[in-house]
Amino acid sequence: MKLWQTRRHWDKFARTDPLWAVLTVPGKEGRRWTPEDFFATGESDIATALAAVGRAHPRLRQGRALDFGCGVGRLTQALARKFDQITGVDLSVDMLAHARRFNRHGDRVSYIHNTAADLACFADGSFDLVLSLITLQHVAPEYSRRYIAEFIRVCAPDGVAYFQVPAKSFLGQSQRFTFYPPSLIKRIWRRLNRSLAAAPTMDMHVLPRDEVIALISEAGGEVLAIEESAKAGQDFMSYTYLVRKR
Ligand SMILES: C[S@@+](CC[C@H](N)C(=O)[O-])C[C@H]1O[C@@H](n2cnc3c(N)ncnc32)[C@H](O)[C@@H]1O
Repeated sequence: MKLWQTRRHWDKFARTDPLWAVLTVPGKEGRRWTPEDFFATGESDIATALAAVGRAHPRLRQGRALDFGCGVGRLTQALARKFDQITGVDLSVDMLAHARRFNRHGDRVSYIHNTAADLACFADGSFDLVLSLITLQHVAPEYSRRYIAEFIRVCAPDGVAYFQVPAKSFLGQSQRFTFYPPSLIKRIWRRLNRSLAAAPTMDMHVLPRDEVIALISEAGGEVLAIEESAKAGQDFMSYTYLVRKR
């Protein structure tokens, strides 16, 4: 899937069931996530991420953080409790509209719409922490390889990048599953605009661990830690990579 297609699908998810599209937990579909429970998962994921960062880099400066593929700001909001300035970046303008609505930290948090295949909107060395969870799995490898190199480029000299990507699928190399919006919303959509009637889909992609390690090295990064992660669900073997600039 090309980036413009991915964008259209995520915009559709954002317009139907945004919290469930971000966290597809059974029983929470049909807008059954409460914002409180949903954002509590972000607090817990950030606590886990920062504990992993702290083990390898105990004196990380907590100035500027980037949340790549921020969605509705689940992790961005939790990062705002720890860092001075947080930037959330996403391909979907409709996800970002929710993120702005859910922001509780004023102008310490900014949300940026980026449809480019790189992070040229940020200068080299801009961030103490670059974080990305449950996003690269939805990005085709032709793009995710470039984004990983970009994470390292925008990292400050003493900063780190912490990102998760599945390495292997137990189903096959690359899968797509389809999310059907609740039928009422679908009917309304059909009436409003026939082109919106098609249900959005979420692609799942993998990048083998050896390939990610090679990419990191080519981009001038050094791997500080790799940990197994359950973030992509039971059908995928996934890792988090903690990286600093060499
Ligand atoms: C499953 S959600 C995860 C959101 C957030 N990382 C979290 O954990 O709550 C995936 C998000 O990645 C975004 N996304 C997909 N491809 C992207 C890209 N190439 N650049 C930026 N964001 C992207 C989607 O729009 C969506 O908001």
